[in-house]
Amino acid sequence: MKRREVPSGGEYPPVSVRSAIEGLDGPLGVIDLDAMDRNTVKMRERAGGLAIRVASKSLRVPAAVDHILAYDGFTGVLAYSLAEAVCLARERGIDDIVVGYPTVERGALRELLEDEELLRTITLVADSPEQLQMIDGVRRTLPSRQAVDSPVRIALEFDAGTRIGPFETGPSFLFGVRRSPLHTPEQAKEFAQHVVRRPGFRLVGILAYEAQIAGLPDRGVGLKGPLIRHLKVRSIADLAERRTRAVRAVREVAPLEFVNGGGTGSLELSEAEGSLTEIGAGSGFYSPVQFDHYTDFLHEPAAYFALPVVRRPAPGWCVVFQGGWTASGPIADDRLPVVSWPSDLEFSATEGPGEVQTPLRGKSADRLRPGDFVFFRHVKAGEVAERLAHFAVVSDGRVVDTWPTYRGLGWTF
Ligand SMILES: Cc1ncc(COP(=O)(O)O)c(C=O)c1O
Repeated sequence: MKRREVPSGGEYPPVSVRSAIEGLDGPLGVIDLDAMDRNTVKMRERAGGLAIRVASKSLRVPAAVDHILAYDGFTGVLAYSLAEAVCLARERGIDDIVVGYPTVERGALRELLEDEELLRTITLVADSPEQLQMIDGVRRTLPSRQAVDSPVRIALEFDAGTRIGPFETGPSFLFGVRRSPLHTPEQAKEFAQHVVRRPGFRLVGILAYEAQIAGLPDRGVGLKGPLIRHLKVRSIADLAERRTRAVRAVREVAPLEFVNGGGTGSLELSEAEGSLTEIGAGSGFYSPVQFDHYTDFLHEPAAYFALPVVRRPAPGWCVVFQGGWTASGPIADDRLPVVSWPSDLEFSATEGPGEVQTPLRGKSADRLRPGDFVFFRHVKAGEVAERLAHFAVVSDGRVVDTWPTYRGLGWTF
């Protein structure tokens, strides 16, 4: 199985990071903090002055979130679950959290609805009255003395996918993801009016994430790259018009605190559109394999997992412990982790990266011994943290800290 491309112009991880963790036990998560800091600065530059809301799903390490939020230009968290948002608020003191996906977590909703402070801190996303009905249903189960009067903060989610077809209302192909049903400015305005009229809720923002631009690599093989780039250009034009009109229409209904869109793959494009007040981004800090394949930018790999060699079945082969840490998405080879160092090692075509062990073939296999590390990169950013209790944080050639992951803290959402 062929190893895919890594960013040119460097060896990843650099020798200073490799030697810093020598002698530690693996599987081990490793963050190259110097690379992550450079990525942070570069993301801020790419966003051209627009604030970045940190997408916690792409980090899943509270200390990393804190570290990034200490930089100017980064504001608040885009969480992926309400239970997570409650933990981040209560245990980490984060005071501005948007839960970027609709929530039906009854337990966490009860905690939210009973807590004035959380109601000030956390914004939920919604795109339909039935989600608000669900929240009201939970509110009704609370003993009356426990419910708090403050409204639930709501961000309306607008569909930033582009429908491409010959006719406005005819069959169309969706270049985007299936999330919000609110596709036209008129639909957005109508739902905004619903939220504003409904007791117990306050409309404070819009979320409109253009996954097909921000999250879709455009340096594909063969015709795939040019086709994706062409579709992106069409989609950017569609959004510049449609999202701008939707934001204007919703602002006629309620004063908005924020309009959030974009992601690591679109920082400069989302900023240039002019309709957003902030960008939600997270992957670029670790810069996983998926983000090696964009035409307009390149960040540095900053997160790895190091797996120890456990045996050598034949000349030219070694076997490392674990490895089958595949990424979510449509099942294909490009969901597999990538061997980063030694870079000549390849997976076995018949076994691939395995549940407990992973055979690797290549010249370097012959100089590795049991206990030596092979370094891998995950295809996506935060998912790898679900396999690890903590990351060893390396800076200037030394392990300077140990950052627990959500999993390590027992936070499973
Ligand atoms: C709502 C939302 N905003 C922003 C992002 C961008 O995150 P990242 O920068 O990690 O790609 C995502 C990623 O899926 C998302 O779902």
